[in-house]
Amino acid sequence: MTSTNILIIGSGGREHALIHALKRSPSAGKIYALPGNGGINRDAEAVNIPVDDHAAIARFCAEKHIGMVIVGPEEPLVKGIADSLEAHGIPVFGPSAKAAQIEGSKAFMKEIAVKYHVPTAKYATFTDLEKAKAYIRKEGAPIVIKTDGLAAGKGVAIPHTVEEALKELDAYFAGKFGTAGQKVVIEEFMEGEEASFFAICDGTRALSFGSAQDHKAVGDGDTGPNTGGMGAYSPAPVMTAALEKRVMEEIITPVVRGMAAEGAPYKGVLFAGLMIDKQGNPKLIEFNARFGDPECQVLMLRLESDIVALLLAAANGDISGRKVELSEDAALCVVMAAKGYPGEYRQGTEIKGLEAAGNVPGALVFHAGTRHAHGKWLAHGGRVLGIAAVGGDVQEAQRRAYQAVDALDWPEGFCRRDIGWRAVARLKGGH
Ligand code: AMP
Ligand code: GLY
Repeated sequence: MTSTNILIIGSGGREHALIHALKRSPSAGKIYALPGNGGINRDAEAVNIPVDDHAAIARFCAEKHIGMVIVGPEEPLVKGIADSLEAHGIPVFGPSAKAAQIEGSKAFMKEIAVKYHVPTAKYATFTDLEKAKAYIRKEGAPIVIKTDGLAAGKGVAIPHTVEEALKELDAYFAGKFGTAGQKVVIEEFMEGEEASFFAICDGTRALSFGSAQDHKAVGDGDTGPNTGGMGAYSPAPVMTAALEKRVMEEIITPVVRGMAAEGAPYKGVLFAGLMIDKQGNPKLIEFNARFGDPECQVLMLRLESDIVALLLAAANGDISGRKVELSEDAALCVVMAAKGYPGEYRQGTEIKGLEAAGNVPGALVFHAGTRHAHGKWLAHGGRVLGIAAVGGDVQEAQRRAYQAVDALDWPEGFCRRDIGWRAVARLKGGH
């Protein structure tokens, strides 16, 4: 079997989990990470090139005979890294800048959804403050206000009164999110249970990559400010096989076909944030042009297929005949963050017990923001570690993950103690 050298772009727990999966593949050659992090760089060779220097990255790929570039985060995609590298003949797993607008612009995403009859919240787009206010007065509250552009997952407000909504709007237009907030999408508030759904796409076709649920709020009981994600588990119990089929038919496939028809064929992971309403109907909240973090960590723990073969087939534009095999196990990931996150936090505090945590049966430690210096592991970021585990069911995965968390010695770190609560409650309730 030929082996493929791989360059992975990113520096978080998601990328560490991808590398872990890549390393299990019989077809992986040498693995490089740009820029990686302390933990990642134990498993992959660090590359020190600015991520915006596409020409230098292309030269590096030629020199190292890179057969595939995998792009973890959305920002380089929106900035066109896939376009630049593909122009040099390098296969990229990740969409073009135009296709990445599905995440980069909420207005674009909503236009595509409506044009291709995907069930989603009713909405309107505004660049004029007074018109936006008039719309909110007409629609009432609760209502959802979003920045059009990327705002690191923080550009969403869900005011519960009209008065609050008008105040929020003033703040958006006053530059709370810079220029990203001066074009807003205002949409209907949808009720139900959220789930994340992933598909891998080759430009014309899509394959289900399974489901997960994450916990965005910083505090137990889903309280406090939103973060990039404090934990996740897979599968999402709400996503039955029948529902998954509907999501593929009603949301993913029409969009992949639509994007091709728009001249922006979609290649890479299409991540749908879903709301499953009381009647059990799936509705689209938003799309992301990448794997979720920490959803990726739990998906990778369940993946049984050869990830290199799969992603390379997608990058090369032909996934026909491929399958995504996921184990029947459940996987759960607890994020450990520096105290203070998502606000201000200290860097450089020492983390001990990583080996003991990794030795808990079924558990794995993914590094999201660490540095290794003078024989010590130091925190180097807000979200610092992802402690993940597999189990026969979500309760077992949860028990193992927290056992590994408890093996760590990091007084300046914290985590939620209730990751997976909804799935565990459902399991105990017997449905
Ligand atoms: P987004 O950045 O679009 O994923 O939004 C962040 C979070 O806001 C989502 O995960 C939902 O919890 C919530 N949200 C966004 N849009 C809606 C909506 N139309 N109705 C209800 N909740 C929403
Ligand atoms: N965990 C949510 C995200 O990656 O967008």
